[in-house]
Amino acid sequence: MRVLGIESSCDETSAAVVSGAGDRVTMDSLVILSQDVHRIFGGVVPEIASRAHLTAIVPVTRQALVDAGLPPSGAGIDAIAVTHAPGLVGALLVGVAYAKALGATLQVPVIGAHHMEGHLFATSLDHADAVPPFTALLVSGGHTMLMDVAAWGEYRLLGSTRDDAAGEAFDKVAKLLGLPYPGGRHIEALALQGDPTRHRFAPPMLNRGQKPGDDDYYDLSFSGLKTAVLRAVRAAEARGALADELPQLARGFQDALIATLSEKTARAARAFGRTRVVLGGGVACNRALQDGVQRAVASSGGTVFAPAPKLATDNAAMIARAGLWRLEQGERSGPELNAYASLAIPGLRD
Ligand code: KG4
Ligand code: ZN
Repeated sequence: MRVLGIESSCDETSAAVVSGAGDRVTMDSLVILSQDVHRIFGGVVPEIASRAHLTAIVPVTRQALVDAGLPPSGAGIDAIAVTHAPGLVGALLVGVAYAKALGATLQVPVIGAHHMEGHLFATSLDHADAVPPFTALLVSGGHTMLMDVAAWGEYRLLGSTRDDAAGEAFDKVAKLLGLPYPGGRHIEALALQGDPTRHRFAPPMLNRGQKPGDDDYYDLSFSGLKTAVLRAVRAAEARGALADELPQLARGFQDALIATLSEKTARAARAFGRTRVVLGGGVACNRALQDGVQRAVASSGGTVFAPAPKLATDNAAMIARAGLWRLEQGERSGPELNAYASLAIPGLRD
């Protein structure tokens, strides 16, 4: 089966073609157009995002089709998968409306795909072994979820953030440190030069007393850490030492956040006897996080699979991949397919 994927949930307009069956699916093309305009505002402006998707969706899709060796009309496609939740509704609607129109024109089925289920599938396009059963850590600008994936479509949510998402914490701390938006990769780069002993922030929501069954055993929280960094920034400012302290502050923040994510992911892998750990979402680009999780799961024989950057951040290949699996299960969306700001991942249980 050859599936065209379309993603427009936030500030990336993306289209991709994947083909194959079962766990043997390859990516034939992937085009991602990032909307740089939001940088000026330090965050995504929904109305601007929708308008930019509208301008880009046709050329981006045509490019993905041509890159896959297909005519720009889409002839040769067997189905279309489109992100329909969660995300900015006005942005999602651009993709959903376009996918439905194209599906009707080409007379191929359309399937609405869940953005977070897409992130779960993304790494399998890079690593043939990144398939269930595995422990999943999804860390993006909007979401932070620790899950057990017994099989595709069988998801158990173990923990999530009680306040800010991991990427949001990176972006907010980056702002405190005067770095550009989105700040995750800037913090990572700055932290490389930072002395890890200068600012030792406590890893959030992590203590030895936590036991399986406790709410806080898997749950995460990052706003307290952000406040701790803010206090340290103010103190450094008062000493007139902020410029010198920036790498140390970035390092201290990143180390604390990674300590929590690594330990909680290792707990989940141990509890379910999983030897594979799959990372997803924009923050999964962070090499220190990849290394931290790998170290934490190594003692129980775990291997970490992280997607290449273009598959870690929002992209349509993961949507096409998740949609292909749903189509293989016989699922189809009707003309009533709609966009939703929030929606549970299908097959998710607590
Ligand atoms: O998955 P994504 O592209 O979009 C959402 O669905 O939110 O994730 C974007 C997030 C941003 O918060 C960005 O700062 C973060 O991923 N990010 C990183 C790195 N690269 C991107 N965070 C930490 N280290 C990185 N290298
Ligand atoms: Zn995402």
